[in-house]
Amino acid sequence: MKVTVVGAGAVGASCAEYIAIKDFASEVVLLDIKEGFAEGKAMDLMQTAPLNGFDTKITGVTNDYSQTAGSQICVITSGIPRKPGMTREELIGINAGIVKTVANNLVQHSPNTILIVVSNPMDTMTYLAHKVTGLPKNRIIGMGGALDSARFKYRLAEALGAPLSDVDGMVIGGHSDTGMIPLTRLATRNSVPVSKFISEERLQQVLEDTKVGGATLTKLLGTSAWYAPGAAVSALVQAIACDLKKLFPCSVLLEGEYEMKDICIGVPVILGKNGIESIVEIELSAAEKAQMAESAEGVRNTNALLDA
Ligand code: 2OP
Repeated sequence: MKVTVVGAGAVGASCAEYIAIKDFASEVVLLDIKEGFAEGKAMDLMQTAPLNGFDTKITGVTNDYSQTAGSQICVITSGIPRKPGMTREELIGINAGIVKTVANNLVQHSPNTILIVVSNPMDTMTYLAHKVTGLPKNRIIGMGGALDSARFKYRLAEALGAPLSDVDGMVIGGHSDTGMIPLTRLATRNSVPVSKFISEERLQQVLEDTKVGGATLTKLLGTSAWYAPGAAVSALVQAIACDLKKLFPCSVLLEGEYEMKDICIGVPVILGKNGIESIVEIELSAAEKAQMAESAEGVRNTNALLDA
């Protein structure tokens, strides 16, 4: 199993590291446009192999897409990250051009690849990847919901005073501060609804903290986060590479599901060797449906900037 990660910045490198540590891929190619940067990150990571005990071979290349040929999965992390106070949507001008070039280069050398898009604004970049590559919908996946759900579980565990392994929850909708929909109604502590343990007010706070999860970290770090984004991507890559048929919320092209068309937005999907094996349509409450419609409108407004 060969995996390519484009962008050797913090998210790309952390993604390569987590993939390697889990030791399910034979090879990870890390590609960056900055001369020598990916080579350096790859060498540094390879020197952790004797300590961390993995056999995955990590290779770094400077903008040489021929080295990515035959990748079963390609991850696009390239582009500029947020600075404190910026929204993900503000990155579109620069990142759209980058994602377009990168997606085309990847598909040219690996026509059968499954693409995972991480660059922001992620839902719009996933939509753009569809437009420019024309790959079937099961082979383009936007990473947002897996990360947002991890942040939701973290906040839930904190509020409940429970171990993280006791907590389950999912975030659907757009990967933006206003578009995320943490499904508090369905969140559980070991199958018991979380509303049994915390007040409606506290749950609302969990929801608000989850939605600004990325912005909170950007403020603290001075740039956007990388450990949880990298771990979330590696979880998706592993589910596909090992055909795990795991359920994650991901940004996918909807063609009638959730009563939407011609949009990529976060909904639950099953991931396996074909990429998106199926889209899971869960029953949403009237309030959640309204939130989903509002979230989709935000994503569509950002998509419209692609033509501007
Ligand atoms: C985040 O939320 C990078 O969008 C990503 O941290």
